[in-house]
Amino acid sequence: MAEKAKLNTKIFFRLVSYAKSYKSILLFAFMASLLIALFSALRPKLIGDMVRNYIVNSQDANGLLLWTGIIIGMLAFEALFQFAGNYFSNLLAQNIIKDLRKKLFAHIMTFKMQYFDRTPIGALVTRVVSDLEAVSEVFSSGLIDILGDVIMLLTVLGWMFYTNSELTLLTLIPIPLLLFATRIFARAMRKSFQLERLQVTKLNTFVQERISGMAIVQMFSREKQEFESFKEINKGHRQAHVNAVWAFSIFFPVVEMLSSLSIALLLVWGAFQIDGIKPENQTLMYSQIISFTLWINMLYRPIRQLADKFNILQRGTVRAERVFEILDLDDHIQHAGKDVDVDFNQNLEFKSIYFAYRNEEYVLQNINLEIKAGSTVAFVGATGAGKSSIVNLIGRFYEYQKGEILLGGKDIKEIELTHLRSNIAIVLQDVFLFSDTIHNNITLGDESISREQVIEAAKAVKAHDFIAKLPDGYDYHVGERGGVLSVGQRQLISFIRAYVFEPKILILDEATSSVDDYSEELIQRATEELTKGRTSIVIAHRLSTIQSADKIVVLEKGEIMEVGTHLELLTLENGYYRKLYDMQFSEEKIK
Ligand SMILES: Nc1ncnc2c1ncn2[C@@H]1O[C@H](COP(=O)(O)OP(=O)(O)O)[C@@H](O)[C@H]1O
Ligand SMILES: [Mg+2]
Repeated sequence: MAEKAKLNTKIFFRLVSYAKSYKSILLFAFMASLLIALFSALRPKLIGDMVRNYIVNSQDANGLLLWTGIIIGMLAFEALFQFAGNYFSNLLAQNIIKDLRKKLFAHIMTFKMQYFDRTPIGALVTRVVSDLEAVSEVFSSGLIDILGDVIMLLTVLGWMFYTNSELTLLTLIPIPLLLFATRIFARAMRKSFQLERLQVTKLNTFVQERISGMAIVQMFSREKQEFESFKEINKGHRQAHVNAVWAFSIFFPVVEMLSSLSIALLLVWGAFQIDGIKPENQTLMYSQIISFTLWINMLYRPIRQLADKFNILQRGTVRAERVFEILDLDDHIQHAGKDVDVDFNQNLEFKSIYFAYRNEEYVLQNINLEIKAGSTVAFVGATGAGKSSIVNLIGRFYEYQKGEILLGGKDIKEIELTHLRSNIAIVLQDVFLFSDTIHNNITLGDESISREQVIEAAKAVKAHDFIAKLPDGYDYHVGERGGVLSVGQRQLISFIRAYVFEPKILILDEATSSVDDYSEELIQRATEELTKGRTSIVIAHRLSTIQSADKIVVLEKGEIMEVGTHLELLTLENGYYRKLYDMQFSEEKIK
């Protein structure tokens, strides 16, 4: 337990250090809450004196009016400071969260693919959105309010002791009980906040995944089961919040009771005093009872709020811990490469490459292969043979364990990573489109690519006609993940995307697999256009697409089985390629 508290302060101070760039805003916010504390602690004193001087001692209506005016003026100032305090602390919070969110997102973008393979999207969305929301409360209503409350507490206590120290001690009798209750409350809240955080992540992940996979849910009529699971998770989410509400609901009445107890003690004191008190002291007693009644309220409110605000700090710190965990994660590809001046129009060579996604489970073994500059090489093999894995290594999306990949004799690890990737274009079977216009999906926001270049590329891959027919042409909004376009159309857009970036190395990973015959013909022609004059790697199921390749590589279980041209491989009796060809050929005949 003690260790945990220590850890939290460490994270808390790390979080607070983000306020460094906003010192003046912090100062304004702090000044405002300082002034509020000082002003409001003074008010009971003034009211007590006013009652004594202008009501009990002399019935002076004018004096009373004047003092009432002064107190109202003070209240107006308090309201002004309240506004300033609120404004500046929220400004501070939003600035800090903006910085933190920016840093977090930039950091997440550096992670290697393996990280995304194993991390649910919903969990990351929770970190970037709702966790940071909770963190912002640390600054908007936690930290500065706590400072204000502490100052208020000390000032009120100071006034009370100054006015009547015996009476102060008497009215403070219930305070140890309050502190005890606060401790229990804080512990309960910490527990429920941790639970709450867990449940929020669960809910986000679930909803995000089911909505992305809604087609599957509906196709397999899984609505009922998914809804049941959702109900469970939703219930857990509610429970986490209800636990917190419970603690609150019990704590607040307890505080009310204790503050009433203090006031009761105050009145009992008054009752004992009233007998045998000298008339000149009587008025002093009245005014003290009035002042103390007001002060006691002021004393309990900050203590009650302190527990509440402390919980906000606690919650924010718990969430910040999750955010910092990601920020501290160094899960990006080790790239020490500095070469930014590499000619990509050179031979690519794999030398004894071994690669495993998980330790020692090699999905590629002893891969040796030369790909001549400007040539087209095709990979064939069963699903899971390792075709995609090989091409992923060229862009260094995953790190291989043994061997080398050389470009013109130079290890690709010596090439600066962005430079390497900007010379490679990969077209996948599953085309990802952003919820944006066709133009922006092609340029990916690169403003140096003009509309003319986009149109020229579209014409080259024979996609211009279909785009021109869309309602807004190139400005047509494709909807989330390109939902309104057909698979073939999406594929053509990804071809244009590859074309405008003029890569030196082009990779088509089953880019033609999921399109119909008509689109296939279009894409076939687009492929020819796209592979012209650049080193190309084509992975395809349909052998018709790869017959003209300069070299065909047959992979099986992560190893190269056969290499040769279409005609060379056909002559291999009992060869894998030969069998594949015969199979597809007979299928064609059946058709
Ligand atoms: N991201 C990944 N994490 C872990 N294992 C993977 C990953 N991607 C592929 N694999 C595994 O690596 C092997 C080769 O897969 P892959 O290269 O995608 O085959 P292909 O593209 O030939 O169908 C398969 O056994 C597959 O399960
Ligand atoms: Mg694949």
